[in-house]
Amino acid sequence: MSASVGQRVSIIGGGGNVGAATAFALIVKGVSAEVLLVDVSDKAAEGQALDISDASFSLPGTCRKGSYKEAGQSDVIIITAGARQQPNEPRSSLIDRNYKVIQSIMDSLKPIKATAKILVVSNPVDVLTDIAQKTSGLPRHQVIGSGTYLDSGRLRNELSSITGVSPRSIHAYMLGEHGDNQFTGWSAANIAGRPLLDHSRMKGVDLDSLYEKIQRKAYVIIDAKGSTFYGIGMCAATLTQALLSNTSQVFPVTNYVEQYGCYMSWPAAIGYDGVEQSLDVKLDDEERKKLQTAIDAIKGACSGY
Ligand SMILES: NC(=O)c1ccc[n+]([C@@H]2O[C@H](COP(=O)([O-])OP(=O)(O)OC[C@H]3O[C@@H](n4cnc5c(N)ncnc54)[C@H](O)[C@@H]3O)[C@@H](O)[C@H]2O)c1
Repeated sequence: MSASVGQRVSIIGGGGNVGAATAFALIVKGVSAEVLLVDVSDKAAEGQALDISDASFSLPGTCRKGSYKEAGQSDVIIITAGARQQPNEPRSSLIDRNYKVIQSIMDSLKPIKATAKILVVSNPVDVLTDIAQKTSGLPRHQVIGSGTYLDSGRLRNELSSITGVSPRSIHAYMLGEHGDNQFTGWSAANIAGRPLLDHSRMKGVDLDSLYEKIQRKAYVIIDAKGSTFYGIGMCAATLTQALLSNTSQVFPVTNYVEQYGCYMSWPAAIGYDGVEQSLDVKLDDEERKKLQTAIDAIKGACSGY
């Protein structure tokens, strides 16, 4: 029996690890939505949906296998389909395989509901978000990617264990690109409005090693267990909640930043219309150079497709 829930979220690639982790996170977070799983492997989508539906009986959301036609008429369409990194493979090398996947998915989804929001999670997420926007025909503010939200969470967890302050009270972002060109926005990082680097327990911390640890975390997990999915599943579910509501919460997501003329991982306020505003971030000269490197990498990759 399906619950009477008003909103529909579809996950393309829902038969895979990230898709299923996202659906599970949406259900256990108590999101009151019908979650549909769509996958090129019908059997995988069916299996994941049946398993997740067993977790939903005491919660407001529901989960079942869906079709592309149903997915195209959803309020939020999450894309987790495609190839994933092999051990030590950079995200950027997935582009040739995954851009064809995105193109064919957008064709299959049409007609797409005019008010739908698309959330791209597949890698390389900044470039694929650009391709998804162009091939979906939806306005830029309705098509976003998970960007550096996961990386920023990893950063906040690390900073929490150093400072002793909850990660929820630490304002710090990984920026630019969800990939090897991401950088830490130290100039803007703060706790209660005070620069984070002024915190007494940050004295003597090796910032380069800290960056390296965050940057390498996905590679460590992939080496140990084959893929990463719980962290990104929770991130994608949280972003979906923001897209289903009107909280205007700020997240570092892939969004089109007019000032730089491309999709990139950058803080934006998210609500029912998608991106409500892309924000300005304080950067020093060194960070501006790193930002330019990330922008050049994204624009370079996008120009090939
Ligand atoms: N953005 C992030 O922070 C982040 C984090 C982790 C993984 N990822 C990315 O998420 C993607 C999925 O990773 P995974 O671990 O779930 O992989 P997976 O192999 O477990 O799942 C991928 C699923 O996509 C399906 N698929 C392939 N082509 C399809 C198509 N044309 N239409 C519908 N379904 C299709 C496959 O059948 C499979 O079920 C990868 O690109 C990975 O790099 C992103």
